[in-house]
Amino acid sequence: MSRFEVRKAVIPAAGLGTRFLPATKASPKEMLPLVDKPLIQYAVEEAVASGIEDIIIITGRGKRAIEDHFDRSVELEENLKGSGKAQLLNQMRHISSLANFCYVRQSEALGLGHAVLCAQRLIGDEPFAVILGDEIIDAPVPGLAQLIHVYKKRQGAVLGVQEVPHHDVNRYGIVAPRTIATGLHRVEGLIEKPAPAEAPSNLAVIGRYVLPPEIFSILRKTKPGKNGEIQLTDALLELAKKSPMFALEIQGQRYDAGDKLGFLIATVEFALKNPSLGPEFSDYLKNRPQPFGERRTTRSRKA
Ligand code: UTP
Repeated sequence: MSRFEVRKAVIPAAGLGTRFLPATKASPKEMLPLVDKPLIQYAVEEAVASGIEDIIIITGRGKRAIEDHFDRSVELEENLKGSGKAQLLNQMRHISSLANFCYVRQSEALGLGHAVLCAQRLIGDEPFAVILGDEIIDAPVPGLAQLIHVYKKRQGAVLGVQEVPHHDVNRYGIVAPRTIATGLHRVEGLIEKPAPAEAPSNLAVIGRYVLPPEIFSILRKTKPGKNGEIQLTDALLELAKKSPMFALEIQGQRYDAGDKLGFLIATVEFALKNPSLGPEFSDYLKNRPQPFGERRTTRSRKA
């Protein structure tokens, strides 16, 4: 195996999901369904389609549903078999055979950097990917595969980025780029959630990374930063001082499904694309009846 083969991916899923409360009070954000699949399944499928074999999910309290989802469900399978629902049965079996799954528990939500550090023993001394499951990327070439391609060629950490509106930079990690090819930049600096006036660009890190194992020794020394959390961005900045780091503009449509509005937009777009629901859903949207409350308002205005 080449030293630059990327076989393992970490999916941090131990966050508190405060932007989606109250839905996430007792249920994991990662299990919110986008049409008929939980968000985290999209992340796993992207990883697998990018050549990843081992998936390490960082979980926390109240996240057991994630483990159950990627495990076999013998009772359900028996039931589907008995009732002749072969297609659904195959779909259910397929989920548990997508990859080799490992789970590490982050006992306290101490930040994304800390969550990644929890995977150190399972990653060992090889490069690995990180996928944030609430960022959904819909692309003909999977987002992570685009990064892995650059990693193999350039042999330095690669961050997935996309341009965001200037007034939104304070929601992201923003890179200071030196462009070296179309859509590819050397990372000269990195700043977490800058005020628009301080942002070095509008290229935002969007939840896809390919990292060398050297990041772990840096993370171990990283002090809590913004919000008292151990920030992956701070460790990346250190890594960029020691070795080349690249930012690749991912080609594809991105949805921030960890945010209520982003989730609604993703739901509408994925529903419209769904072969069995799309045509009817599109008809519904085009001919949407006026909701009851609005009808009443219109009548009372006329009166
Ligand atoms: P986010 O900040 O987007 O997720 O972290 P969050 O903390 O769950 O949600 P909000 O912001 O409070 O609404 C990015 C990713 O890192 C994981 C989260 O689960 C999410 O997938 N994370 C974050 C951890 O695994 N552990 C942490 O301590 C923090």
